[in-house]
Amino acid sequence: MPFTSPFSRLTLGAGAAVLLIAAAQAEDPAADGGDDRRAGTLEKATFGELPDGRTVDVYRIANANGIEMRVINYGGIIVSLKTPDKHGEFDDIALGFDSLEAYLSDTYRQANPYFGALIGRYGNRIADGRFSLGGETYSLATNDGDNHLHGGQQGLDKVLWQAEPFENDEGAGLVLSYTSEDGEEGYPGRLETQVTYTLTAADELVVDYRATTDKATPVNLTQHSYFNLEGEGSGSILDHYMMINADAFTPVDDTLIPTGEIRPVEGTPFDFTQPTPIGERIEQDNEQLTFGKGYDHNFVLARQDASSGDALLAARVWEPDSGRLLEISTTEPGIQFYSGNFLAGDLTGKQGQAYEHRSGFALETQHYPDSPNQANFPSTILEPGETYRTRTIYRFSAQEEAPGS
Ligand code: GLA
Repeated sequence: MPFTSPFSRLTLGAGAAVLLIAAAQAEDPAADGGDDRRAGTLEKATFGELPDGRTVDVYRIANANGIEMRVINYGGIIVSLKTPDKHGEFDDIALGFDSLEAYLSDTYRQANPYFGALIGRYGNRIADGRFSLGGETYSLATNDGDNHLHGGQQGLDKVLWQAEPFENDEGAGLVLSYTSEDGEEGYPGRLETQVTYTLTAADELVVDYRATTDKATPVNLTQHSYFNLEGEGSGSILDHYMMINADAFTPVDDTLIPTGEIRPVEGTPFDFTQPTPIGERIEQDNEQLTFGKGYDHNFVLARQDASSGDALLAARVWEPDSGRLLEISTTEPGIQFYSGNFLAGDLTGKQGQAYEHRSGFALETQHYPDSPNQANFPSTILEPGETYRTRTIYRFSAQEEAPGS
């Protein structure tokens, strides 16, 4: 059992009353959820202990419609996310585990799929783990062949964040804070990061990213949830209809580093401008699909101007049996569509089911991979005195009919 008692229950409302409930048995109301129809409820419990003795907490956040997410302060990982299907039945649509041990296990660390985690300082790859800035060359930790991936050996997905629950007009959620010291994983500057998860009454998960630095440094924060809209552990995602609001993508070499080209998707298996089953073209004879072992590519979103502050529609995914629809909007200029190609059945998830090849997909809103080495890509450099701010919104619903484009 991941939960221990007593656990504390934070009932948010006028005065944000805090009720301490002594859970006598190993009963786990935070895990079964779905019945609590009060707006903005939060519960906190112990999830596990790190090898150095620090406690990892799990927060359950639910909205009035019964949508429920559980987040741990280790890696800011979303460990579960329950949403209704077209019949109002709730399922957990996020791949992940019930215990901290599973997230810390050697098998998991070797496979390193980053289930549900916050990613940084730089989401995606930096070629050879090197870049130049202000006349200096920086060497980052390499953890994907010769390349740097998702922040290095111990990225933001593998650190303990400070967590503050809150309630506001939009909903309830958590503010997660972490300070990455100057030189961490090779990056210049002391980076103060803050990520806010808000579960709204409108069935949205809003993720706000914020960072400041004391030296110029690249920053590209993202979230690495894997979804299976039929429910995690229920098999392949190849029948999901995918729409990506992108007319172009960034082709890669065989180590998944962009070549620098911005290539139109038209006439290629990368054209998701109309909703198309993920599996329809994934086995086509195409060099880019071979390099990615499927889809593992950055799409150039139709609206690239991240400065206006508006989050615009980036992707829409619909699963025909459940009718679940996931819509993702973002202020970011890109989105990595990863079709779970490295899942190999060696990790067993929450229902005791092995996570087979392509049994979950990730859509990582981001700046383009390797931007610090690619002059023609939008800049990812954060300067002292500036504040990094991006927003991504996940909207959960269900409908009988396939969505339009
Ligand atoms: C990202 C990468 C993939 C893979 C996954 C995690 O999506 O682009 O290549 O590393 O993370 O397995």
